[in-house]
Amino acid sequence: MLVSGGAGYIGTHTCVALIEAGYDVVVVDNFSNSEASAIKGVEQITGRDIAFEQVDTCDIEALRGVFLRHEFDTVIHFAAFKAVGESVAEPLKYYMNNLTSFMNVCALMKEYGRPNILFSSSATVYGEPDALPVTEQSPRQPATSPYGNTKQMCEDILRDCCHAYDGVDGIALRYFNPIGAHPSALIGELPRGVPNNLVPFITQTAAGIRECLSIFGSDYPTADGTCLRDYIDVVDLAEAHVAAINRMVGGKMEEKYEIFNIGTGRPVSVLELVNTFERVNGLKLNYKMAPRRTGDVCSVWADTSLANSELGWKARRSLDETLASAWAWEKHVRNI
Ligand code: NAD
Ligand code: WQD
Repeated sequence: MLVSGGAGYIGTHTCVALIEAGYDVVVVDNFSNSEASAIKGVEQITGRDIAFEQVDTCDIEALRGVFLRHEFDTVIHFAAFKAVGESVAEPLKYYMNNLTSFMNVCALMKEYGRPNILFSSSATVYGEPDALPVTEQSPRQPATSPYGNTKQMCEDILRDCCHAYDGVDGIALRYFNPIGAHPSALIGELPRGVPNNLVPFITQTAAGIRECLSIFGSDYPTADGTCLRDYIDVVDLAEAHVAAINRMVGGKMEEKYEIFNIGTGRPVSVLELVNTFERVNGLKLNYKMAPRRTGDVCSVWADTSLANSELGWKARRSLDETLASAWAWEKHVRNI
């Protein structure tokens, strides 16, 4: 199976899960947001050599070479830029990379008769939901960032390709908030510069790289005033990909294009997450309440019943073990 962006945070964990489930993987990545060491981590965990091609998926002729050199029926497409704030400042960078890269993959899958496309979508497509938890039928709200727009547009591109082309089937997985790292601490998230996401900021603060965590907003209409999210362990998320692939390659899809929410179904507040991190790792975090961050929604969490019943998948890991794994990874990276 081809894994585009397979050197990244979710891609590496998914490669491990795929290999453990008996699948062969070929990874393409241009290391725009990752490093070769990530592939080494996957090799160490699985004890297998990973077929790797350093290719920019926006370069269709280079990507064609990958299709010609390798046999596979399935692609998991992770390759994208993902920083919401940067996408507002540099929209073209995001439209160019995220759309071109995905359309190239779809075009080559069609051209070479490779049928199964799994796309990394995001809870960001729901925006500020009218009702909670969100189901796959909940309306998508107008995107609030170019990044979110690329996720909506790629979903639509995949839907249209599946409906138009007999030989193309697709699944979009809408991830909620992936956090944590592999229990081996050999792979994990490697943010460049100042992290935008909560958990990397927490672990870097605990490691002394950041002075203080700002909790963005303490006056939301929630029990403790901070935002609610659905934080999913990245290893659970990786296993959801295996379940979705099993469904595709096992001929079990009921529609040519299907969408699944991938979350835990449990809302967790920022304060609860911070307190849990402190408790499970036995440390005190320097944090302060700060104004709301522009563009944040108050609350979003998943109804996961469709993924539970149709994929036979469920998030299993506790928030405690996930936050312990996040800290173990940070300590590994920093040699603490
Ligand atoms: P990541 O940045 O760690 O991984 C993405 C990988 O794709 C990186 O290794 C990067 O080098 C590679 N890449 C980017 N553009 C490329 C290109 N043109 N050619 C080849 N490789 C390219 O991000 P991640 O967190 O692992 O996210 C993976 C996917 O999941 C992305 O599509 C992201 O939008 C989506 N997603 C992520 C989250 C999250 O919070 N992490 C949530 C929802 C959806
Ligand atoms: C979580 C909560 C913040 C940092 C983003 C993308 C979304 C998806 C997942 C890709 C929020 C609060 C954060 C900090 C804080 N990615 N926070 N202090 O915004 O839910 O989702 O990542 O598809 O598209 O938008 O995740 O980790 O940034 O924030 O208080 O320093 O933590 O306000 O409530 P978010 P996040």
